[in-house]
Amino acid sequence: MNASAKDLAALLPPRFTLGVATAAFQIEGALDEDGRGPSGWDVFAAKPGSIVDDHSPAVACDHYHRMPEDVALMRELGIDSYRFSLSWSRIQPGGSGPVNHAGLDFYDRLIDLLLASGIAPMATLYHWDTPLELDAAGGWMNRDTAYRLGEFAAIAADAYGDRVTRWVTVNEPATVSTNGYMLGMHSPGETLMLKALPSVHHQLLGHGLSLQALRAANVPGEIGITNVYSPMVPASVNPLDKVSAGLMDVAQNRLYADPVLLGKYPDSIRIATFFSSFSPSSEDMELISQPLDFYGLNYYMPTRVASGPGEGAVPEGMAAAMGDDLGGTAPGSPLHIASFPDTETTAYGWPIKPEYMAVALSEMAERYPDLPPVFITEGGASFKDLEIRDTDGRLIVPDERRVNFLADHIGSAIEATSPGGPAESIDLRGYYVWSLMDNFEWSGGYKQQFGLLHVDRETLDRTPKASYYWLQELLAARRGDVVPESPDAGVPAEASDVDRFRTVG
Ligand code: BGC
Repeated sequence: MNASAKDLAALLPPRFTLGVATAAFQIEGALDEDGRGPSGWDVFAAKPGSIVDDHSPAVACDHYHRMPEDVALMRELGIDSYRFSLSWSRIQPGGSGPVNHAGLDFYDRLIDLLLASGIAPMATLYHWDTPLELDAAGGWMNRDTAYRLGEFAAIAADAYGDRVTRWVTVNEPATVSTNGYMLGMHSPGETLMLKALPSVHHQLLGHGLSLQALRAANVPGEIGITNVYSPMVPASVNPLDKVSAGLMDVAQNRLYADPVLLGKYPDSIRIATFFSSFSPSSEDMELISQPLDFYGLNYYMPTRVASGPGEGAVPEGMAAAMGDDLGGTAPGSPLHIASFPDTETTAYGWPIKPEYMAVALSEMAERYPDLPPVFITEGGASFKDLEIRDTDGRLIVPDERRVNFLADHIGSAIEATSPGGPAESIDLRGYYVWSLMDNFEWSGGYKQQFGLLHVDRETLDRTPKASYYWLQELLAARRGDVVPESPDAGVPAEASDVDRFRTVG
């Protein structure tokens, strides 16, 4: 599709929210400042070999010190809403007990500045940076962590409840359990495989208890959870490939969405847990499936699944980006992720398939007839962006692939949910671009860049990329404003335009 900003603006439903997203650990830095306590991620990232090239999150984007500058850039961009996360260990250093007033003040100032800039704050309570003391006590394998998150939600409600427009309780519990507790690729680095199942339930319970705490505090903001969704595509018509894709669908999608939206775990999981000591009570399931004001869905890519161990546990590009330990073969594995033939990929090796955005939404609509309004709470792509200098030495980042990615994915989501579309029953309320700026991409370090803003790793200067100007144009066109002239950073239409610039390095 690849709509121009103006064409796409014409397709946007009235009051459709366009925003950008970040997470505290990925942008703030200042890990030891103003009373912040350590998180499990501080320790995991410091272990040699956990992060690509041993990149350190200590400074990240230095957002903790540059927050006013970053909000000014968002105001310039013209977004409706900003999704950020609260660093639990900055606000409550031990994960329980006393609060740190300097930490509370930081988000107080952020929220006030956002509101003064006409930007609606969407706050995520838990975006993976568990306070270290809780991790030391078992992290999400320990049921107690769910209650601690509920208490943290009450602290946040008390501090910011009057001003936060939307709350996300937990971000992508699937990634935490899969990467953090099953495979050891993320903090806390556990390799428990199927024994990690309690970490799933406890995160979902943490969601339920947070939701309960926010409701008890009568916050006026809307409340939801964010789950990632990846349509599972069998690699062939071979029944074994179909079964494998079905298994992945349960393990990555339904395991997290069914309890929240249907109040029960998928049948296959219930059979598996029948043989283990894990048996969730009906009280837990009621907490987990309380009504939501919205459902947050992160869509990045579909997954092509084949039976058998295959060549590698993860697609080659992703393995290369994330570290050698993920490459190679997985001899005992009953299934593997296969690459899509003839498909362009991101720098991570993720397939670029905007049409599957529509598939994700239509599968959601079919499975969950009572789905509340939906926000795409994340979508975006990492690319090795071209960095060029104009004749005055100014940096220009013509990231046209990111522009195309965003235009195609937003367009696909809107088309799918419009009357006559395959997911027309979904009330789609908005799309948040991941991410405002290049940041600490977990195990991918600073190598995987998703930002609309380029961040110089030495000076930490922010430079708007072409995708930033494109989104600015889209927002302006939707408001009916005169579209701003983007400085030279517009996408060079032809290679010859690029010749006007000197290529860096
Ligand atoms: C996470 C982000 C992450 C992004 C790109 C999502 O899974 O919520 O924190 O940076 O994907 O990998």
